[in-house]
Amino acid sequence: MITSHIVLYKQHGEPKDVLETHSYQIDETKIGNDQVIVKTLASPINPSDINQIQGVYPSKPKPTTEFGTTEPALVCGNEGLFEVIHTGAGVKDFQVGDWVIPALVNLGTWRTHALEDSSKFIKLRNPEQSKAAGKPQGLTYNQGATISVNPLTAYLMLTHYVKLTPGKDWFIQNGGNSAVGQYASQIGKLLGINSISVVRDRDNLQELVAELEAKGATHVITEEQNSSREYSSTIKDWVKETGGEIKLAFNCVGGKNSTGVARKLANNGLMLTYGGMSFQPVILPTSLHIFKNITSAGFWVTALLANNQELKQETLAKIVDWYEQGKLVDASSTEVKFDGEKKLSELYLSGITGKGKHLVTY
Ligand SMILES: NC(=O)c1ccc[n+]([C@@H]2O[C@H](COP(=O)([O-])OP(=O)(O)OC[C@H]3O[C@@H](n4cnc5c(N)ncnc54)[C@H](OP(=O)(O)O)[C@@H]3O)[C@@H](O)[C@H]2O)c1
Repeated sequence: MITSHIVLYKQHGEPKDVLETHSYQIDETKIGNDQVIVKTLASPINPSDINQIQGVYPSKPKPTTEFGTTEPALVCGNEGLFEVIHTGAGVKDFQVGDWVIPALVNLGTWRTHALEDSSKFIKLRNPEQSKAAGKPQGLTYNQGATISVNPLTAYLMLTHYVKLTPGKDWFIQNGGNSAVGQYASQIGKLLGINSISVVRDRDNLQELVAELEAKGATHVITEEQNSSREYSSTIKDWVKETGGEIKLAFNCVGGKNSTGVARKLANNGLMLTYGGMSFQPVILPTSLHIFKNITSAGFWVTALLANNQELKQETLAKIVDWYEQGKLVDASSTEVKFDGEKKLSELYLSGITGKGKHLVTY
């Protein structure tokens, strides 16, 4: 018997009020033909996980009693890295020791173990398999556990909508220091696309600018600089030098910060909104629509990949290859380890309330 601990909630609300740790048994001798038992290596806390618990996110797990709770409960977490520890007799695609990630969202990744149908997982090379394949390095827990949302979002926003000419064209983004923003700058650089990352001013601004430039951002500017008239001509000069255009804008903030990046787009440019960190609506002046033909559209990686496993696999393979080549660096997380001392839900809560991104390792 394996004792699994799982973080779940029975009603929506603030995580501190609704999260519970529940323990249940998995009987490995009763594993189904096509099932696998996995142990969790790491799972992150994403802003969307918190929104899901609050009940303000459109994609939701189904309430279930399968873990032995008296009332139906919803399991937390969408991303995670797992190791296969048992396989059913009919499982062909996975072996014990393989690393896997969820194929789709809402698997419930804030738990120590899971017994699931093998079709719910996608295999990633583990470090030994990367070595055997002659790759310079293997994935870390953080890279594996956070691969399916932020790097995929950045890569797909850069490649799926607008043709950008390497060496010439540009994209501009607000929240340039967000995890997605950091992947976008790095992937932009790998693809030869210039970038302007807009960030909020802060005491250690120069440190942040240096860090983001080291990660591939061509230029890093503050929101104030982006909205100043004088700075407009500086930006025009940068773009003129490469002979390209700012064809894409990424917005994860909303409000006047969205107007700021949209204003920098060339005629016929596209602004993709993928987040709403300020909780303010996207504001696009009428003139940008009429006289510059700017398009504003939404991006949701869950919806784009829900019925396109092929695109997901292709994109994952690209990101894995860059990680293995050491060309892509993951957005850093504060790691907290589950050692049984604190309840699992308390560990996730400390990550939710703590500063910056958190990864729970097991
Ligand atoms: N649509 C999709 O498919 C998709 C995929 C991935 C992520 N997302 C969304 O993208 C957003 C960013 O995700 P992430 O994981 O990259 O987040 P993250 O690493 O936690 O970064 C959050 C960013 O938002 C900025 N921010 C927070 N509150 C703000 C405010 N009131 N005004 C201006 N900026 C603010 C932060 O800037 P400071 O450092 O200045 O606080 C930081 O740059 C989230 O909304 C997430 O849900 C969407």
